Amino acid sequence: MISINHQAVLGTVSENDILALRPAAQAAVQTLEGGTGAGNDFLGWLHLPSSIDAAMLDDIEATARTLRAQCDYVVAIGIGGSYLGAKAVIEALGDNFAAYKPSVGAKVVFAGNNIGEDYLYDLMKLLDGKRFGIVVISKSGTTTEPAIAFRLLKEKLEMQVGKDAASKLIVAITDEKRGALRSLATEEGYKTYVIPDNVGGRFSVLTPVGLLPIAIAGFDIKALVAGAVDMERGDESLVLDYAATRNALYRAGKKIEILVNFNPSLHYLAEWWKQLYGESEGKDHKGIFPASVDFTTDLHSMGQWVQDGERTIFETVITVENPRNKVVIPSDKDDLDGLNYIAGKRVDEVNKMAELGTRLAHVDGGVPNIVITLPALDERSLGQLIYFFEKACGVSGYVLEVNPFNQPGVEAYKKNMFALLNKPGYEAESAAIQAKL
Ligand code: PA5
Repeated sequence: MISINHQAVLGTVSENDILALRPAAQAAVQTLEGGTGAGNDFLGWLHLPSSIDAAMLDDIEATARTLRAQCDYVVAIGIGGSYLGAKAVIEALGDNFAAYKPSVGAKVVFAGNNIGEDYLYDLMKLLDGKRFGIVVISKSGTTTEPAIAFRLLKEKLEMQVGKDAASKLIVAITDEKRGALRSLATEEGYKTYVIPDNVGGRFSVLTPVGLLPIAIAGFDIKALVAGAVDMERGDESLVLDYAATRNALYRAGKKIEILVNFNPSLHYLAEWWKQLYGESEGKDHKGIFPASVDFTTDLHSMGQWVQDGERTIFETVITVENPRNKVVIPSDKDDLDGLNYIAGKRVDEVNKMAELGTRLAHVDGGVPNIVITLPALDERSLGQLIYFFEKACGVSGYVLEVNPFNQPGVEAYKKNMFALLNKPGYEAESAAIQAKL
């Protein structure tokens, strides 16, 4: 089971400061459970793990098997919450140089998470003449980035295999009734899955949005969900502790939380976490700024800033107890590189000492840290971690007194972009923005 330790924040805030926020965190849990708080129409994630239908998981696995059998690549198209959960889990569990489970999974590549012309060109070149399928994911069904990628890749697939065959290689995950993607899927006869109305994008990794791409990549979605159920039914004090501690630090002037890993596979988990906390808490001119670093890599870039820069940061370190594989540092008779003092040690022993040394140095430098420990980087632990972060995010947002389940600020760039592109319906905005340029 994952665990949490806040000992290393106690020089910055006291145990009493944290305990003083526990009642607010407990009240937030009651608000979530009772559905009485802001954004209460988006609480479908709260008991999602324990209510996932076994038949649904079987169906997702069957679809994944079919696509794997027919495709060398599956393109998962989506952005934000319709992308980051799957990407995070696949990267965390996958072979570092394949990002899927070789011998079981198909390669899952991502699109629609940017509007990079070269990205799309290179992807289409990669897929030239290859057997590929598409999972297109958009809750609203109208988001511009995935819509552009889907239009291009759908056309490419239809040109490569014909319209009928293509329609059997495309799966759409979207709203049950609304949106352009739902209409298109119905028209073209695609296999579809529904994103529940009451689950927001950034809380949707345990719906088909995350589960289908993860299953296609060859990972055990039942174990992932079982891990989330462990946490849903397990010890609530972990969630309360994290929510209370980070809010106590925020009130003590620590405005930036850096999620730290010492394992390159966790890079995208941090990207997912940043979206979860950034979109949930950054409101009403409040909220901890969520940042991330990959150590030891970034100790050679951001390490200086963390050690000696402005003291407005704290760290949350994700530590993994046991690596999946064993690599031992060999002895060398000449020892020209001077490394024989660690010969015979596993690489992970060195990494763990780098981690401990870094944590101690940062505390000495005025950067407190919370430590979250995972027994291993496997489906079960990741499921626990995902649900832990989701629930703590809801609790923390209520402690901060914001609505953690909306994202009104995301609309501002879209409105300007549509105005600049002269999208029908945006005539007044187009005139206003042109006058400013
Ligand atoms: O968390 C969210 O709600 C957002 O990040 C969305 O997931 C993102 O904007 C994509 O939206 P959609 O799935 O409607 O295309």
